[in-house]
Amino acid sequence: MYKSRIAGVGHHVPEQVVTNHDLSTMMDTSDEWIRTRSGIQERRWSPQDTGTSDLAYEASVNAIENAGIKASNIELVIVGTISSDYFFPGVSAQIQDRLGLNTVGAFDIKAACSAFIYSLSVADQFIKTGMVKTALVIGAEAQSKLIDKSTEGRDVSVLFGDGAGAAILTRSDDGNGILSTHLHCEGRELKHLWMEAPGTSPNAWINNLELDSDKFKPIMNGKEVFKNAVTRFPEVIEEAMAANKLSMDDIQLIIPHQANYRISQAVAKRMGVEMDKVYSNIHKYGNTTAASIPIALSEALAENKISKGDHIILAAFGAGFTWASAAIKW
Ligand code: ACO
Repeated sequence: MYKSRIAGVGHHVPEQVVTNHDLSTMMDTSDEWIRTRSGIQERRWSPQDTGTSDLAYEASVNAIENAGIKASNIELVIVGTISSDYFFPGVSAQIQDRLGLNTVGAFDIKAACSAFIYSLSVADQFIKTGMVKTALVIGAEAQSKLIDKSTEGRDVSVLFGDGAGAAILTRSDDGNGILSTHLHCEGRELKHLWMEAPGTSPNAWINNLELDSDKFKPIMNGKEVFKNAVTRFPEVIEEAMAANKLSMDDIQLIIPHQANYRISQAVAKRMGVEMDKVYSNIHKYGNTTAASIPIALSEALAENKISKGDHIILAAFGAGFTWASAAIKW
């Protein structure tokens, strides 16, 4: 068995900054409401002619450069996203083409906020077993195109933003790298956070629906999301620590999915962890679903918050419900 390590990271966010005040001109909301309940101050929205694949491509180019490899070294592409450019195929096929990767395998993973860790875990298995030496793993979303920007959709739309992050995973030669990954799902809870249409269920098929149907809008039961998130985050972080016989004192940084600052605070409180050990950039980008962890990882590294030999934990919770973690020795 080999071990994989993250050799480089990159991210990309659209230029357009949308502040809470900007939102209050489109819907009945306020900076105070959004800030106090989520910690979000602003988010990025993509221009009309930009899709998720464009954000993913830019993040990938940055990660390839950061890793100091050639695109032609990549043998596998995995993209975590719930906002793909097309109904099918996935964003991964577009990235594979734009990077000129001939015929290497490429697929998407639709595990919402947990999708980057799910994707990292799959790539890790490919590298561990010697199937590939180098993989490109991406989390990317252009959610501004899916949200309802009227007062009716305000409980969801104020939380989400656009962006992409990418990581190059390669075979480790010094024993450091991904120590373990842990994936979970509880599908019976899926209707607490979902977008029903368009889909192939008779209830979700486009021919059977009015185009302004609520089924085309993301729906969230905020209280259930909050309640489950503050339980599952600590569980899956503790699972990663236990699997590697690590205590919280051994962990230098936790990078949680940037769901909501109040969720991160509640998780830290339950675990008895100071907030300076819990990375946060949600004030700038809102919740970017699959993109939030790789963007945060990329920024944490750029800010020198991670040093060689550090133990870090990535953790996510989101639609499905899915939740996941990864323990990494940097
Ligand atoms: N602006 C102003 N008012 C709003 C907005 C908004 N954007 N959205 C909802 N409201 C209103 C509601 O209509 C409701 O009004 P009413 O009382 O007149 O009916 C009121 O605000 C509800 O406010 P609260 O009392 O604060 O409601 P609650 O305590 O349930 O909090 C919240 C709602 C903030 C969504 C909470 O449940 C929460 O934080 N949940 C977690 C959701 C989350 O962060 N999801 C992240 C995305 S999923 C993921 O990544 C895991």
